[in-house]
Amino acid sequence: MPVSSKNPILPFGDQRTAPWYGQDIISIKQFSRQDLEYIFAVAHEMRVMVERVGTFDLLKGKILANLFYEPSTRTSSSFAAAMERLGGSVISINEVRYSSVAKGESLPDTVRTLECYADVIVIRHPEVGSAAIAAASAQKPVINAGDGVGEHPTQALLDAFTIHEELGSLEGLTVTMLGDLKFGRTVHSLARLMSLYGARLHYVAPEILRMPAEIIRELKGKGVAQAEHVRPDGVIGETDVLYVTRVQRERFENEEVYNSVKGAYVVDAELMRRAKERMIVMHPLPRVNEISNEVDSDPRAAYFRQMEYGLYVRMALLAMVLGKA
Ligand code: NCD
Repeated sequence: MPVSSKNPILPFGDQRTAPWYGQDIISIKQFSRQDLEYIFAVAHEMRVMVERVGTFDLLKGKILANLFYEPSTRTSSSFAAAMERLGGSVISINEVRYSSVAKGESLPDTVRTLECYADVIVIRHPEVGSAAIAAASAQKPVINAGDGVGEHPTQALLDAFTIHEELGSLEGLTVTMLGDLKFGRTVHSLARLMSLYGARLHYVAPEILRMPAEIIRELKGKGVAQAEHVRPDGVIGETDVLYVTRVQRERFENEEVYNSVKGAYVVDAELMRRAKERMIVMHPLPRVNEISNEVDSDPRAAYFRQMEYGLYVRMALLAMVLGKA
């Protein structure tokens, strides 16, 4: 359930039937299993509707402001597509150097400006905590689309929906996260989410890119089984979900250090031969070299389907925070 409360007055119905109306989405910690089941059900309906009619008018007249201070292909375009498929429209600010940010405007002021024109704000920003700051400055709902090395909650939700659709359940899975677990914000959110489902988590990373100790501690406190490894070989055979991440070049201060770890892992046909037949390979994308192209034709490669699931989840989230689901 949501932690903060904004816009408590509903246009119709009541709080019990639309609990996310007017709420921010900042961290995956806001979500319970019950919330996730609800999101999966709404996302599934969105999928059926898109397949049946393509676009429909659930959010007609509503406007989304897409505020991106960091590069994005999938997140920004899937939020834009989600809004348009629901009949709404989008203000896109992805070149902040052409906006008043370049004149020195603060984040709270930029957000206060955009909420005069839009009904919901999606923000990606390089600093941890920036989405929470934006949310505190706005009356309208704010959705975190990645705050530096912090969290990326909507990615974790679409990752979970992918697992749900591909494997039928999230219960008791063995999830192996591979790559840059230090700077990769998607794994920070996903590890927390999977902890709700009794997952066993394997973290495979180079020494300098290990999962942050505070996340391991947090999940240990919840009784989650976790183990760290330097190679995937010992765990690939028991893995249900192999979640691969890119080494986050932009977070390194030193290019030489980046070069020393950039090619640490490559998922290839040989590794896939040692994996379960029902395993899925996921990646938030973009990939650089960490999954070999030869894996793309393997039916277990779910990373392209994962992008499409993202559209349905973002449609569900927009409908929820705007009081229409
Ligand atoms: C991810 C991100 O921005 O954190 N991309 C995405 O949203 N699909 C992963 C990444 O950039 O490596």
